[in-house]
Amino acid sequence: MSTPPRQKRLTPNDITALKGQRPVVSLTAYTTPMARLFDPHCDLLLVGDSLGMVLYGMDTTVGVTVEMMIAHGQAVMRGVTRACVIVDLPFGSYQESKEQAFRTAARIMKETGCDGVKLEGGEEMAETVAFLVSRGVPVFGHVGLMPQQVNTSGGYRSKGHTDTEADKIRRDARAIDEAGAFAMVIEGTVEPLAREITGTVSAATIGIGASPACDGQVLVSDDMLGLFNDFKPRFVKHFAELAEVISRAAEDYATEVRARTFPGPEHTFQIRPKKQD
Ligand code: KIV
Repeated sequence: MSTPPRQKRLTPNDITALKGQRPVVSLTAYTTPMARLFDPHCDLLLVGDSLGMVLYGMDTTVGVTVEMMIAHGQAVMRGVTRACVIVDLPFGSYQESKEQAFRTAARIMKETGCDGVKLEGGEEMAETVAFLVSRGVPVFGHVGLMPQQVNTSGGYRSKGHTDTEADKIRRDARAIDEAGAFAMVIEGTVEPLAREITGTVSAATIGIGASPACDGQVLVSDDMLGLFNDFKPRFVKHFAELAEVISRAAEDYATEVRARTFPGPEHTFQIRPKKQD
């Protein structure tokens, strides 16, 4: 029996195939309405564990749970028809063993319908990446600055400035590439190293603070929309200033409610005139 393909969304293989063809466009997405808005413009939507910081006000991503990722993964899946959707494995849900990683990844894929998972780590995660890929889980890797390791890696500073650090990132990228990752985020990494890695791995490299030399770019959507204004890292560009727009809208609403000019007659229900018999 042959069954027609169920979906026209881009697959992880399609993302890898874009390498050398055209830049891969990616944003984080956490909710259905935002996913609907981003979907026509993006190749890949990442349900990033950055949601802990941008939606829940956490200081780091360390406190994010599998349940949070599933709830937001389901929300994003309801909003897409085109983009490939990848969900982050949160801290503590995969580092213990490759079996733990498979259990978490399988649960997330079954409960959300997403196309694969992202995990942070290089050489130390290569065996896990190979284990997942060989069992049907597409893996998006993440090297360079790894936010889940912020407590042991010296904070959110850019990477690859020393030979030792650059060598480690080089080995990390090669290890997860050889393990079968379809793509990898390179975060907060100096341009020459990001360029070199992009030129040597088969996976598509998706940069965030890693220069235009990467095969594609990703940004945290709330950052690029100017919604998350606590601080603005060097690599972020605001393509809109939505915090100002929202704040002004809330102020106007408050003014009109206090002045009783909202709701107006056009927003108010009146009793319909009775029909004549
Ligand atoms: O969690 C996230 O949003 C990410 C991006 C910064 C790549 O990992």
